[in-house]
Amino acid sequence: MRQRKVKNLDMLLAACDAWAVKDPKTHKGSWRKLFADPSLPLYVEIGSGKGRFICEMARLHPDVNFLAVEGGAKINVRILQKAKDWNLSNLLVIMEYIEDARDFFAEGELDGIYLNFSDPWPKARNAKRRLTHRNKLAAYEACAADGAVLQFKTDNDALFAFSLDEIRSRGLLIRWVTRDLHHSPYAARNVETEYELKFSAKGKSINCLQAVLKR
Ligand SMILES: C[S@@+](CC[C@H](N)C(=O)[O-])C[C@H]1O[C@@H](n2cnc3c(N)ncnc32)[C@H](O)[C@@H]1O
Repeated sequence: MRQRKVKNLDMLLAACDAWAVKDPKTHKGSWRKLFADPSLPLYVEIGSGKGRFICEMARLHPDVNFLAVEGGAKINVRILQKAKDWNLSNLLVIMEYIEDARDFFAEGELDGIYLNFSDPWPKARNAKRRLTHRNKLAAYEACAADGAVLQFKTDNDALFAFSLDEIRSRGLLIRWVTRDLHHSPYAARNVETEYELKFSAKGKSINCLQAVLKR
């Protein structure tokens, strides 16, 4: 994602301090305690961009706690800004890249993971960097509570095909798949991301799937 200069970055970060998690790895196993209501389920989006999706999800679902994860400095501050403007008490932001989910989350800690328009890493030699690579899936599975779901959407047909193969290679149950999310039964509950708005405006259909990480 293109990173524009953010005016008064330090001031902005200070104003939104309450939503930014410091030293995120130290919260492994105790994430729920950081939220106003620790009894709620915990969902994570890895690669939140400017946070349109995760902030809207937090607003629509006050009965769920959400973690936005975005490593891009200057982008992740946009998530903080939205969380503050909307005074979201069920959203926190991890301002780091997550390479291995097990470094950040304990066994069974997550109720769901969203991957939206993840970077495609098109060259074969970079396949292991894709967020749906089988090694990453194995890490998500280790952090998943019983019944936890993985939801993935992308405009990129090759990445989607790759991801389906990887998910099958892990033996995960695929609950549903659509190649045209906006004209599917799942459209009504769909919350669009920044990239989704951009690509669907160009006429690109959106692929989406939901799989169960732990049964
Ligand atoms: C193509 S953008 C999509 C942003 C947003 N999800 C959307 O749909 O509009 C992918 C984003 O994921 C972030 N990202 C990629 N790998 C990541 C990782 N391992 N941990 C955290 N963020 C990551 C990038 O910095 C980038 O902002």
